[in-house]
Amino acid sequence: MRQMNLLGQSYTDTAFQENKDLPFHRWVNWIAGFSELFVAEALERHLPYRGKQFTVLDPFSGIGTTMTTSYLRGYSSIGFEINPFPAFVTRVKYSAIHDLDLDGMKSEITHFSEFMAQSKRPHLSKPPSGFKTRMEFYSPKVLEKVLHAWDFFEMLRDRPEFYDVFRLAFGAVMVSFSNYSYEPSLGSRIASGKALINDYDVSGTIVAKLKEMYQDLIWARKVAINNSSFNLINDSFFSSDLKPESVDLLITSPPYLNNYHYIRNTRPQLFWLGFAQNSADLHYLETNNYGKYWQTVRDSNYRCTLKIKLHKLQKLLDKISAVESDRDVYGGRGWANYACEYFNDTLSFLNKTKTVLKKGSKAIIVIGNSILKGIDVPTDEVFSLIAKNLGFKEVKITKVRNTRIGSSIVGTGLRTAGRKTLYESVVEIEK
Ligand SMILES: C[S@@+](CC[C@H](N)C(=O)[O-])C[C@H]1O[C@@H](n2cnc3c(N)ncnc32)[C@H](O)[C@@H]1O
Repeated sequence: MRQMNLLGQSYTDTAFQENKDLPFHRWVNWIAGFSELFVAEALERHLPYRGKQFTVLDPFSGIGTTMTTSYLRGYSSIGFEINPFPAFVTRVKYSAIHDLDLDGMKSEITHFSEFMAQSKRPHLSKPPSGFKTRMEFYSPKVLEKVLHAWDFFEMLRDRPEFYDVFRLAFGAVMVSFSNYSYEPSLGSRIASGKALINDYDVSGTIVAKLKEMYQDLIWARKVAINNSSFNLINDSFFSSDLKPESVDLLITSPPYLNNYHYIRNTRPQLFWLGFAQNSADLHYLETNNYGKYWQTVRDSNYRCTLKIKLHKLQKLLDKISAVESDRDVYGGRGWANYACEYFNDTLSFLNKTKTVLKKGSKAIIVIGNSILKGIDVPTDEVFSLIAKNLGFKEVKITKVRNTRIGSSIVGTGLRTAGRKTLYESVVEIEK
């Protein structure tokens, strides 16, 4: 089945097939918004002339689906990602395609297996002291094995390309042998009715991931047209200073208005891989994240003001604000503040987009609607409204996927909210 947009063009259903089975994109699971197939389709449709003189931008690049897909097809690629873990994943993917000695990687995987088979104590490595969790993150037997693995990684420190690849493999699988799990937010296994993990094949799990990465690198080297540039900036897109009129196509999926806490959910990777030493290090990430987080703006004494005059949107925010107004931080005001911050950031995002796009170029934005405090927020329509207000030439919405329930129903304490449905749309805007 294909979903039609206003011009009668369509995106295939497979556009949203999970990245988890595709080479290179399967290294780390991330809430992607789209897959390699969707990006490839958008490139073919909107920028069919390939070549390094064409620049593709993803301002919220995650684990780099847009960036790597564009790059492997010969386009120049620019991305911004605020969270150091997915930014690291994207950077390692790129440098591994070019610089990694694959024979060396193969023999280091063998050395790692042999090292893990000998039990040596005491371990030189220690768990990161700033990483605090309510319950033990690793059971003692698992922790022993994890520290043993880290003793090996540390021996690779003077060969950064291997050190990074091994740390990435660990970051990709580290939660699977912990007492926590993704549901899709990170929570204790006990809270989701799962048994604790007392022991696990840590070595086998890391080795399987490394072997998958090795295979994908062999594939990537065969398919890459690799003389184009690849520039990932590990910072907020909102503080970017890209040259005006420098981008030929923008493909992105910004965070949805569902308070999915990318920072909290990656605390294990941020601490264990050395990107954060204490919770204060997470503050900049939380407050500069697209939409901030409900937790940072929910104070009922705080009043967020919309930076754009849109009567329809203001009415929607007032409606959310009025729900359970007596519940202090849990009332509608906090959620209205969050939505207001989110749409103020949408305004900044679209404003910047307008500056950096070349005339006649497009931005392809994948976004899902949300239900806040039981009220449907059609984010795709709001994005379109803001884009029209900013003077974008053409604005089109294509609904590409309907889902029944999900993590975008927030603030109600319910998994379902009446008969309201969640969907995802592609918003196409042209400068
Ligand atoms: C829906 S995900 C995009 C995933 C991406 N499409 C992929 O394939 O991996 C949104 C991303 O935006 C990032 N993000 C949030 N606020 C940001 C900001 N201010 N600047 C840059 N990236 C940001 C989040 O960390 C998250 O990785």
